[in-house]
Amino acid sequence: MKTRIAVLVSGGGTNLQALIDAELRGEIPHGEIVMVVSNNSGAYALERARQAGIPAAVVSKKECGSQAAFEARLQGILEINGVDLVILAGFMSILSEGFTKKWPNRILNIHPSLIPAFCGEGFYGLHVHEAALERGVKLTGATVHFVNEIADGGPILLQKAVEVLPDDTPETLQRRVMEQAEWQLLPQAAEMVSRQIAENR
Ligand code: GAR
Repeated sequence: MKTRIAVLVSGGGTNLQALIDAELRGEIPHGEIVMVVSNNSGAYALERARQAGIPAAVVSKKECGSQAAFEARLQGILEINGVDLVILAGFMSILSEGFTKKWPNRILNIHPSLIPAFCGEGFYGLHVHEAALERGVKLTGATVHFVNEIADGGPILLQKAVEVLPDDTPETLQRRVMEQAEWQLLPQAAEMVSRQIAENR
């Protein structure tokens, strides 16, 4: 049986698209994206899920009223759908220890830097690339790691370095990191862990 994957998103969803495309190309033979969950009803990622025919749900922290209620709702949706592996693909909400403890080595996250540089609370999206340019690093990249109770602190699975160019803006750097690292690493990691789960069932 294939590993059942839920992809959690908040925004544009280019990493979700990379996963969908990789699955369609047969590059995630041990896994299947069974659902997409967004914490933001306006996320374009939801449209990508719709176009791919993948069921999608919105769980908003605001509507749930508290972090605990939000996570209980999320947990319920994942359980009902028999999810084995959760992939955070541009999911901009930090999950508590209570939640991550229920999914040991079963949550993956993609972060747009070479951890431990430019990571932890406050480092997300474009801010990460702004910080990298401000510090003047010549190399940055992306990291896929398992998620535990420490923000961006779980065991590292894959990393890839990307060059910073002299005229880079946060936007051009973000795009290069996505194209040269994120969109390759995340499907690769999804297959690695899906295979491990499927084989140890
Ligand atoms: C990606 O660059 C992802 O690595 C980053 O947000 C972007 C989402 O883009 N995630 C984080 O910063 C998490 N700390 P996407 O919605 O197009 O995939």
